Amino acid sequence: KNPVVAVVGATGAVGREMLKVLEQRDFPAKDVRAFASARSKGVKLPFKGGEIIVEELTEDSFKGIDLALFSAGGGVSKKFAPIAAEDGCVVVDNSSAWRMDDNVPLVVPEVNPEDLDWHKGIIANPNCSTIQMVVVLKPLHDVAKIKRVVVSTYQAVSGTGQKAIQELENQVRQIFNMKEVECKVYPHQIAFNCLPHIDVFLDNDYTKEEMKMVNETKKIMHAPEIKVTATTVRVPVFYGHSESVNIEFYNSISAKEARAILSQAPGVKVLDNPKESIYPLAIYAAGEDDTFVGRIREDDTVDNGLNLWIVADNLRKGAALNAVQIAEHLIIRELLR
Ligand code: A2P
Repeated sequence: KNPVVAVVGATGAVGREMLKVLEQRDFPAKDVRAFASARSKGVKLPFKGGEIIVEELTEDSFKGIDLALFSAGGGVSKKFAPIAAEDGCVVVDNSSAWRMDDNVPLVVPEVNPEDLDWHKGIIANPNCSTIQMVVVLKPLHDVAKIKRVVVSTYQAVSGTGQKAIQELENQVRQIFNMKEVECKVYPHQIAFNCLPHIDVFLDNDYTKEEMKMVNETKKIMHAPEIKVTATTVRVPVFYGHSESVNIEFYNSISAKEARAILSQAPGVKVLDNPKESIYPLAIYAAGEDDTFVGRIREDDTVDNGLNLWIVADNLRKGAALNAVQIAEHLIIRELLR
């Protein structure tokens, strides 16, 4: 029997994308319901040619729901995911609230689908920048074993949510109209600027986003020994995260071998023809399901080093699509309750 599905945070940037992905993949749902805060009660969201009326999320919302996709922020997930699980619902949570909990699988279906088998009602969807990096790292790690990764990100504003998309648009208008720039979401102007500051700063002077990339990569890949260091940057792009990734391997691997491996990897598409100016770009990755990789070249400053450029749609593979893929695996593996 097909599950009744809830999208929690359905009016947000990721929530809307979740509805789109469920529709596009013709997800086998008996019914799809949408939840958000009291502010959005009664809002109509388009779905399969009709519309879904948004309901207010309450503690009683999960009665009769089999599967809930959460993207309403960490606070909502902390409070409501256990309530949903208690009611027999399986939660796929897009926030960072449960990701590093030892009782919660953190899953990218192309990398570690087997971790779904031990779920206890909550499954975490990893950080957007981490997801697109690990789908590329995993097939390379299987062949040449990764020692160390140095990553710098160029992340789209849609990762912050609907308000940040609006803020970038507003600031561009304000600048062209020679008005004062208003900063409400970010601490500095994002239009025509780069902010080396995503999520909050921690005691070690890294941001929380940077440490998510470090810790989540190890957990997803079952490889605590891989060293990862990250610098995460918000750039004035609406959709699509880009990453410069430098990898040091234990074993030798040429750029040509890496290209061959990645061209066979699930969920990955190689776009790498420098002479024709072909490489992954955020504007073309937007709306796509694949993770794109290019600029594959050897780093001759270390033994067994490679440089790559990875781009994916942060709202799709980075969030909504990965969550729906997890849900599809739960159905195939008969892991709903
Ligand atoms: P709402 O639109 O009613 O505020 P984004 O990441 O784009 O900012 O979206 C966040 C999503 O989380 C929205 O759908 C938002 O609903 C929802 N949300 C935020 N706070 C709550 C809450 N306390 N209860 C339920 N949904 C919430």
